[in-house]
Amino acid sequence: MHLSGPLSGRWTAYLGLISTLSGVITPAVAVKEHDFKKCAQSGFCSRNRALADHVLSTNSWSSPYSILPESGSFKDGQYQAVVLKTVNDNGDTVRLPLTVSFLESGTARVTIDEEKRQKGEIELRHDSKARKERYNEAEKWVIVGGLTLDKEAKVDFEDKSQLTVKYGPTSSNFEAVIKFAPFGIDFKRDGVSQIKFNDQGLLNVEHWRPKIEKPAVENKDTSEGEQNQEDKEEEKKEEEEEPKGEDESTWWDESFGSNTDSKPRGPESVGLDITFSGFEHVYGIPSHTGPLSLKTTRGGDGSYSEPYRLYNADVFEYILDSPMTLYGSIPFMQAHRKGSSVGVFWLNAAETWVDITKGKDSKNPLSLGIGSKTSTHTHWFSESGLLDVFVFLGPTPKDLTAKYGELTGTTTMPQEFALGYHQCRWNYVSDEDVKDVDRKMDKFKMPYDVIWLDIEYTDDKKYFTWDEHSFRDPIGMGKQLESHGRQLVTIIDPHIKNTDNYPVVAELKSKDLAVKNKDGNIFEGWCWPGSSHWIDAFKPAAREWWATLFKYASFKGSMENTWIWNDMNEPSVFNGPETTMPKDNLHDGNWEHRDVHNLNGMTFHNATHHALKTRKPGELRRPFVLTRAFFAGSQRIGAMWTGDNTAEWGHLKESIPMILSQNIAGFPFSGADVGGFFGNPDKQLLTRWYQAGAFYPFFRGHAHIDARRREPYLMGEPYNTIIAGALRLRYSLLPSWYTAFHQAHVDGTPIVKPLYYTHPDEEAGFPIDNQFFVGNTGLLVKPVTEENKETQDIFIPDNEVYYDYFTYNVVASGKAGKTVTVAAPLEKLPLLMRGGHIFPRRDIPRRSSQLQKWDDYTLVLTIPKDGKHAEGELYVDDGDSYDFEQGQYINRRFVYDGAAKTITSVDKEGRDTKSVKQGEWLKKYNGVRVDKIVVVGAEEKVWGKKTEVDVVDESGKGAWKAKVEFTPADKAAGRASFAVIKRVGASIGSNWKVEL
Ligand SMILES: *[C@@H]1O[C@H](CO)[C@@H](O)[C@H](O)[C@H]1NC(C)=O
Repeated sequence: MHLSGPLSGRWTAYLGLISTLSGVITPAVAVKEHDFKKCAQSGFCSRNRALADHVLSTNSWSSPYSILPESGSFKDGQYQAVVLKTVNDNGDTVRLPLTVSFLESGTARVTIDEEKRQKGEIELRHDSKARKERYNEAEKWVIVGGLTLDKEAKVDFEDKSQLTVKYGPTSSNFEAVIKFAPFGIDFKRDGVSQIKFNDQGLLNVEHWRPKIEKPAVENKDTSEGEQNQEDKEEEKKEEEEEPKGEDESTWWDESFGSNTDSKPRGPESVGLDITFSGFEHVYGIPSHTGPLSLKTTRGGDGSYSEPYRLYNADVFEYILDSPMTLYGSIPFMQAHRKGSSVGVFWLNAAETWVDITKGKDSKNPLSLGIGSKTSTHTHWFSESGLLDVFVFLGPTPKDLTAKYGELTGTTTMPQEFALGYHQCRWNYVSDEDVKDVDRKMDKFKMPYDVIWLDIEYTDDKKYFTWDEHSFRDPIGMGKQLESHGRQLVTIIDPHIKNTDNYPVVAELKSKDLAVKNKDGNIFEGWCWPGSSHWIDAFKPAAREWWATLFKYASFKGSMENTWIWNDMNEPSVFNGPETTMPKDNLHDGNWEHRDVHNLNGMTFHNATHHALKTRKPGELRRPFVLTRAFFAGSQRIGAMWTGDNTAEWGHLKESIPMILSQNIAGFPFSGADVGGFFGNPDKQLLTRWYQAGAFYPFFRGHAHIDARRREPYLMGEPYNTIIAGALRLRYSLLPSWYTAFHQAHVDGTPIVKPLYYTHPDEEAGFPIDNQFFVGNTGLLVKPVTEENKETQDIFIPDNEVYYDYFTYNVVASGKAGKTVTVAAPLEKLPLLMRGGHIFPRRDIPRRSSQLQKWDDYTLVLTIPKDGKHAEGELYVDDGDSYDFEQGQYINRRFVYDGAAKTITSVDKEGRDTKSVKQGEWLKKYNGVRVDKIVVVGAEEKVWGKKTEVDVVDESGKGAWKAKVEFTPADKAAGRASFAVIKRVGASIGSNWKVEL
């Protein structure tokens, strides 16, 4: 969370204290765009954009990078060479080692480093302690697999000017054409160009150079007054004619606001243009507000004028429809067109910006074989580190998320409770308050799983302590929650209060585990507790120490149902540049904060995750830790939310593309604060937000300390009932959600899916980002995100039949690409079921997911338009331990065969489940059954006269009959016919068959 005004008395006093003591803080009242850098205020951003402006306005530009042909060698799936950068007119060059790796998965990786210079050849600022090497450890934190080289990759063609490598899995037909001078790579699939590197010539590796103290030369800004108009004109003319020398003003230090960044290594950015040939849509690079299909960024109608920025920051009260940075970054971009999906992953943890432009390919459209289709040009640049880019050639969106998942890992299997509803506010004021909310949720029959405590539960913002007056009996509170299978989440942040008599900070200092400032002394800054230090989770010893703090005996008042929320881990530093850490701070190994900034939040989140795993010897449970800051790879650790949003309709609307963007970029366990963090939602907005939130993978209500109480039962009627309905809808669909999480865990598939992902050939769906499918259920939802809206237009992406979830009305049965209008009064969430699916549900309302654990299932089968085939899945395990890694799970595939008139359940992986040694959970699960099967769209001629069906348990438990109730269609109301098979009785985990 972040503070905002109007400040409550308590906070005013607190901030007053900070202002007095530090003299720098001004109380934050709302986000000010000017608190965060624009490109023009960032040295390396300006330089890279200036290069682009220059290059793109000149016809004669030739990129000064070329491969030294005799340096090249190809071996075991890897091409290595030296790229020479010509740095001046004398022809002086800098050597940049290039590695192009072809991986077994079909992913290619291009890495450019800078050769270490002889001692003395390059003098870095002598007083600096910063590590003098390009940061090369991002891989260590991010990549967990998929790096095996493709030994089958081979050079197919080579001459003096280029080299072609064929690579990728059999039949994939991938090739990389590596051009020597100027250096560039053209990635093709089936002979067609998909992705090009340095096609525009914007490759830029700012090589290290000695700092030359120049005599104060004529400075444009200061001398301007003395120049006469003529001189100025003259100068301007010169600028136009000849590329001016680079703007060196921010090479060696750079100021923003009252902060100055000493830049001991000088300029060292890396930049590259990446062209997606023939692609009109690009997606990804979260987190930003704005549409899922990314906008162009170079000004003009409907465009941004700033590049998309990736620099994790505490951007409180963020604005909508903006390329501004937010709390987390995933530099993974996908391009999509009919018939092709490709992507790039820019592995760099420093501040990064991405410019996007679109245009007709002017160079040589005919040779591309794609006529004059629009291409998307992207221009990426990072402040420091290696140039390190992975290239995915698809061809489907699913291929991209799977290959990316192979590299960076997939979604962690969550605690099952984490998919339930989370009730949070800043702050529940006491343990009694928590217990009271817990009772009221029950009283109003609103299911929930987790209640949350923000920073006020602590003693004076000292984490691992409790405020003795308001939280006298945390264990008593935890026990009451436990009695209904509920959980508590407490906040623990990375800033450690700098005060006496606080053992945590004493140890942090004495063990030398904190982030350092540029001089190598412990860094001190301001956050919630006032003066603070920050744990350096890059240090192995710091992570080990962090784990000790979470032992039940250390964090007194915590217990088995206590879990953690990591906030402010960008990190947020109230008096730091852009509310974060100075870039010249030092981390483990003396890497500058500049190099690792975007990784910082992930290492801390990960440290907490691992700490929870070792709370008690022998207790190996899946941790639940929510994070605000994240990077590529954070999906392996826990959940994220979109930070401090606002109680406005626009924020509700924006939450959907934001969450979809997280989903396609490999980190689907995401949600937005229901109700909006800042401000007070009216009842209609809050109600609509619960309906939408019930379809966020992570579903939490939260509110600012100044916001009025808004527990869902406080809204009165009809709102209470409608919200309770949304909560129960979520709970009944939990088996489907859990199955979708499992799919994400297995291969990186999104949990909620935009239309370009599910229907990659339906072009009209490509820009749509306000409706989505849930897992493989065929559930299509389009929450209402506008005030007083009573109908909703839904785009139908295919020829299937679509039924209304609640009424079974046939909403669409015809043509792809048409829009249908459904009624959406306040009590109704627009939710459709696509024909041809079978999805699991649990229909008995309970207080929490834990109390549903042993309930029987309902299966919903939606008959497709042609009546032939429907299928679906259910994955379930104990929802808590890692026993699923030892086969302790149930993974079913349900199939409806319209010709054979059967519904069958088989093991999805084709395992002989009888051979799986059954642990306690699996044994007990034998008693969990299929209760009923609801057949929506059941054809009258097939089902009309049926009163019973045969159920055969194929594991040998026999055969029996189940009753069927058929309801004919109601033509006047537009309702489809349906049938309910009652008391099916088959064990959910065994093979069974229903025969009509
Ligand atoms: C996560 O923590 C484990 C245990 O300390 C460590 O081995 C691993 O490198 C960490 N990974 C990240 C991404 O921080």
